Amino acid sequence: MAKNKRHKYERVRHLPNVIFSGSGEVPAPGSQPWYRGRFAGMEKVLELGCGKGEHSLGFAAANPGKLCVGIDRKSHRMCVGAEKALDLGLENVLFLRARIEQIKWFFVEQSIHEIWLTFPDPCPKTRTIKSRLSAPSFLDVYAGLLVPGGIVHLKTDSDMFFDYTRTSVERWGGREIAVAMDMHGEDFNPPAAGKVISAYENAALLRGTPIKYLAFELN
Ligand SMILES: C[S@@+](CC[C@H](N)C(=O)[O-])C[C@H]1O[C@@H](n2cnc3c(N)ncnc32)[C@H](O)[C@@H]1O
Repeated sequence: MAKNKRHKYERVRHLPNVIFSGSGEVPAPGSQPWYRGRFAGMEKVLELGCGKGEHSLGFAAANPGKLCVGIDRKSHRMCVGAEKALDLGLENVLFLRARIEQIKWFFVEQSIHEIWLTFPDPCPKTRTIKSRLSAPSFLDVYAGLLVPGGIVHLKTDSDMFFDYTRTSVERWGGREIAVAMDMHGEDFNPPAAGKVISAYENAALLRGTPIKYLAFELN
């Protein structure tokens, strides 16, 4: 393992804004830090597969009254975002190292206002379809966590993943609220949080790939 990566694995363990799913018993969802103290009354926004947390940091900076929780299974990536949040003094962003398959263990039913899927891995192979973050089993979990009228937002550079998600949402019984085939194009005014551009997104834009955007409700 590269030295830099190994250092991040070590450093991230000591950051006060990173929570680890751990391997032992999971505390009751309502006792997690995002439901306690000054976070208790704040609207909550989740970024699933946050990587280095660029979107989470952008959401938090643009929405000081909301709490953003960036979630990823790769702790060395979120180390970058978590350290930056501390440097910037951003107090309304936390990170959770967990698999998205586990998130219902960490959040109370009907307590999340928005879920962002920012450039999820497209999982193109047939044997990995169930791992797509908009597969029906994930939509079931999101529907349980969202408040009534809560919204799921998707940003992706993958046509395949975009089309798959639209079909998945329709079959599930969800409702599209907004669709853009080129969210940075002239005809679309994305929600403020959608204007944050991560390094991954920037690379897609430099290749000339339009960024697709979808917002949908599940309840
Ligand atoms: C393509 S990267 C995008 C990162 C970031 N959202 C961005 O826009 O730069 C996808 C991220 O999703 C994470 N991921 C994929 N599947 C996951 C899962 N089931 N549970 C947790 N994280 C997952 C990966 O570790 C990776 O960091």
